[in-house]
Amino acid sequence: MSAPAVALVLGASGGLARAIIAELMADAGIETVVAVSRNPLPEQLTEAQANRRVQWITSDYNETDMAAVVEQLQPYSGRISRVCICHGILHSSGQEGTLWPEKRLEDINADALHQVFQANAVVPVLWLKLLHRVLKGPQRCVVAALSARVGSIGDNHLGGWYAYRSSKAALNMLMRTVAIEYSRRIKNVKLISFHPGTTDTALSKPFQAAVPSDKLFTPQFVAERLCQIMDHAELDGELSYLDWDNKSIPW
Ligand SMILES: NC(=O)c1ccc[n+]([C@@H]2O[C@H](COP(=O)([O-])OP(=O)(O)OC[C@H]3O[C@@H](n4cnc5c(N)ncnc54)[C@H](OP(=O)(O)O)[C@@H]3O)[C@@H](O)[C@H]2O)c1
Repeated sequence: MSAPAVALVLGASGGLARAIIAELMADAGIETVVAVSRNPLPEQLTEAQANRRVQWITSDYNETDMAAVVEQLQPYSGRISRVCICHGILHSSGQEGTLWPEKRLEDINADALHQVFQANAVVPVLWLKLLHRVLKGPQRCVVAALSARVGSIGDNHLGGWYAYRSSKAALNMLMRTVAIEYSRRIKNVKLISFHPGTTDTALSKPFQAAVPSDKLFTPQFVAERLCQIMDHAELDGELSYLDWDNKSIPW
């Protein structure tokens, strides 16, 4: 009998990540969900952590710290069946200053571009670099990174949102390049760049007024869709760029 599977959720305290953790915890085939976040364990997961259904690890996502997280995953090596990379910023008003999606050329700002690229593309690809040893094995493993349709170059007819759009296009290219290398080195892994659709979380909050109510998804609905897609994804050595309805998005 094969050992029970483990799932990883990276960037675990966001709206979509929390719904994905709940969905993975409801999966009888998954023994433990390992969640990594800058933030401490949320109160509602205290019991799940005590029962070892969830293992919560904090990290500030510098590469040394991320490597230390991956060291902690060694006991799960070859048993990881799902990885959800949930990092993403579109706007922020945190310590690093205010950041808002650009409407026009004059709004472009180097610091904002760096911050958005770091969270949306650099941190995800560092995980893919560091994790490959623990993902390798007999276990079928599906890795989904939360991308966005606005990262599609072919689908960009509106313009604006320079940093967010281009960071998601960069994420897609990084993932595609990783998929080529993984297909040679760790054939048990499938990669997906996933567009959740506009979902009711802190990230979309300021932009929800323009979204018809039937087009604004709950995080639970999207998490369910993503987990179904991951359950059925084929190990074809390719990166798939898919939306919540399992439809391909043009690059
Ligand atoms: N909501 C939507 O409508 C929508 C639409 C398309 C795509 N997406 C994508 O879905 C993903 C999840 O978004 P969400 O809607 O759940 O937003 P959210 O609630 O704001 O969550 C943001 C996530 O990003 C991580 N994060 C924030 N700042 C970071 C930083 N500086 N460095 C690294 N990680 C950072 C957080 O992880 P910690 O746990 O460490 O805080 C958290 O998981 C993002 O990639 C977003 O682009 C969302």
